[in-house]
Amino acid sequence: MAYYSVSDCTVIELDKHHSDRKGNLTVVENNKTLPFDVKRVYYIYDVPGGESRGSHAHRSLKQLIVAASGSFRVTLDDGTTKRSFILNRPYQGLCVMPGMWRDLDDFSSGAVCMVLASDLYDADDYIRDYQEFLDFRSK
Ligand code: TYD
Repeated sequence: MAYYSVSDCTVIELDKHHSDRKGNLTVVENNKTLPFDVKRVYYIYDVPGGESRGSHAHRSLKQLIVAASGSFRVTLDDGTTKRSFILNRPYQGLCVMPGMWRDLDDFSSGAVCMVLASDLYDADDYIRDYQEFLDFRSK
């Protein structure tokens, strides 16, 4: 089976509207910004210093990960290659394709990790065991 690789996961520059005196606004719109439609948004926040999140892969979910505030690191692993991204701009989003093991760490204080997802929550879409992930990738 053909799978995506980490090189298919890239940082997308989002539309940013700047107003000199009133700050910035960034917009994500279905059919325009992303290679998928957004069905769910969730966000991770108040992560204690030194803690990590993730440690799983998704079988079919696509995601855009945005540092809505602060910064953190996302490390993607396609079973062969790892690639790390520092996210620290609210107008950039990391597009994560299906079948990527991901670890999120190095959260700054006040960091907000906003995730725009292609589907509703489905526990069966998760692979939480690394060996199972490698087996899945080698099928
Ligand atoms: P999880 O995806 O494991 O978080 P992380 O990868 O950031 O560590 O989710 C943590 C918990 O939240 C888990 O019990 C499932 C629940 N959850 C939902 O109920 N709905 C959702 O949309 C998400 C993303 C998680």
